[in-house]
Amino acid sequence: MIDIKNLNKGYMLGEEYLPILKNINFHVDEGEFVAILGPSGSGKTTFMNVIGCMDISDSGEYYLDGLSIHEMPEEQLTEIRNKEIGFIFQNYQLISTYTVLQNIIMPLLMRGMDHRSAEEQCMETIKLLGIDHRLDHKPSELSGGQKQRVSIARAMAGNPAILLADEPTGALDTNSGKEVLKLFQELNAMGHTIVMITHDLKVAQSAKRICKIVDGRLSEYSVR
Ligand SMILES: Nc1ncnc2c1ncn2[C@@H]1O[C@H](COP(=O)(O)OP(=O)(O)OP(=O)(O)O)[C@@H](O)[C@H]1O
Ligand SMILES: [Mg+2]
Repeated sequence: MIDIKNLNKGYMLGEEYLPILKNINFHVDEGEFVAILGPSGSGKTTFMNVIGCMDISDSGEYYLDGLSIHEMPEEQLTEIRNKEIGFIFQNYQLISTYTVLQNIIMPLLMRGMDHRSAEEQCMETIKLLGIDHRLDHKPSELSGGQKQRVSIARAMAGNPAILLADEPTGALDTNSGKEVLKLFQELNAMGHTIVMITHDLKVAQSAKRICKIVDGRLSEYSVR
């Protein structure tokens, strides 16, 4: 599903090239739940942006479902971002002037689906996530855990191949965080592929497999 080989990415700081991701090899099969564990500044978000096709690496190969991302024109990349990847962020990134329902179905409306079909398509997820009684609320009227569940519902709206979460429990209290992680495990048990980025080993341990990233280098994590 995800196949990344010898990937490098850095940033230009003035005249100087600052390497961030260093020769990364990363493979994810369909149905996996993988955590990427690393300290602040290790390159996690940079890597997530590359995996999510929001940013392109400087060198290396990236195949998503067999398609070479590096050779893809911007238009097709936009489509892949919209259809294949569901993003979940630490700070939810909900639109404050929209209702919960409007936030959730927005990715489908952007694809040209009509309101009623979009709502129908999302209803099962909405019920699964237990937010069906909050659909007319604005994000500001929800708890952190509820906001994160709305953002998960939005990420899942288009039935993406991969759910990509960057510190999804970072802004939550311990209990809401645990609920979100349990939800990820349930979604994974239903067959959803999840890649979750975190600096917290306890959070990473909810996943089936852990990779660690230290100073831009990725490796398998093992307790020993
Ligand atoms: N646009 C940019 N230009 C230059 N340097 C950047 C840019 N974005 C990130 N960096 C640098 O890349 C490194 C990795 O940043 P990144 O955001 O990927 O880390 P992170 O692991 O997500 O950290 P955190 O846990 O704090 O979110 C940092 O040293 C950061 O300063
Ligand atoms: Mg980050």
